[in-house]
Amino acid sequence: MFDRNKHKPNAIADMVIPNPKTRERLEDYENSRRQGNVLLHGPKGTGKTCAAEIIGKAREKQNDNSVLKSEGFRSFEGATITEKEVLSVPDEWEWRRQCGMKPPTIVINEIDKMSPAMLEKLKATMDQNEGKGQIIATTNNRHKLPPALADRFRALEMPALSADDFVAPVMGMVEKEGFSVTEAEVKAVLATSTGSWRDALDAAEEITLRKSKAQQKP
Ligand SMILES: Nc1ncnc2c1ncn2[C@@H]1O[C@H](COP(=O)(O)OP(=O)(O)OP(=O)(O)O)[C@@H](O)[C@H]1O
Ligand SMILES: [Mg+2]
Repeated sequence: MFDRNKHKPNAIADMVIPNPKTRERLEDYENSRRQGNVLLHGPKGTGKTCAAEIIGKAREKQNDNSVLKSEGFRSFEGATITEKEVLSVPDEWEWRRQCGMKPPTIVINEIDKMSPAMLEKLKATMDQNEGKGQIIATTNNRHKLPPALADRFRALEMPALSADDFVAPVMGMVEKEGFSVTEAEVKAVLATSTGSWRDALDAAEEITLRKSKAQQKP
């Protein structure tokens, strides 16, 4: 079985990010060299949630509070975050600060899925607690955010990837599964790619399965 988790990037360095400036920025956030709110935006499957999770987990590793060591640092989803959770963002920052997170960070995925009223509440909460922590947010629809809220985030674009960007990583994944593969084979499967990493994962799975079935044939 092709295990997608085996190929999940654990660090920004493992991700395919064609723009060197974007990579550098993300690594700066991963290593706490940069602070402030960030909005990762771009089309589907370009690694926004993946990068936000990596940054969140990098902060989690800073946890030096033995009492709270077992506590997970969950991220929020724009579609399901409650008003109570929005209003408790400063508390979330505070206990993360007490765990040694520098800066205390929370992740909100698909922030544009929050209702206009909730986005206003988030803006007010951010203003009342400026400098106390950081929000890493992701969205496919940056234009759907109220401009004044979007202005409180540094925008970082993660654009669609081209099929060429996927060739080497897909070859790497197939090889990691124990099969050799040619560039032409990978390119043929990637011909229908829409620029989402999920296409790259599908292609690697497809080729791996094909090869393993061919091997089993007498
Ligand atoms: N640039 C990348 N390099 C390596 N793996 C990636 C990259 N981008 C995405 N992936 C992998 O592809 C899958 C989808 O990525 P992810 O969920 O981060 O995309 P997204 O941009 O948040 O998409 P959506 O807009 O649909 O929410 C994940 O398993 C992720 O680990
Ligand atoms: Mg996402």
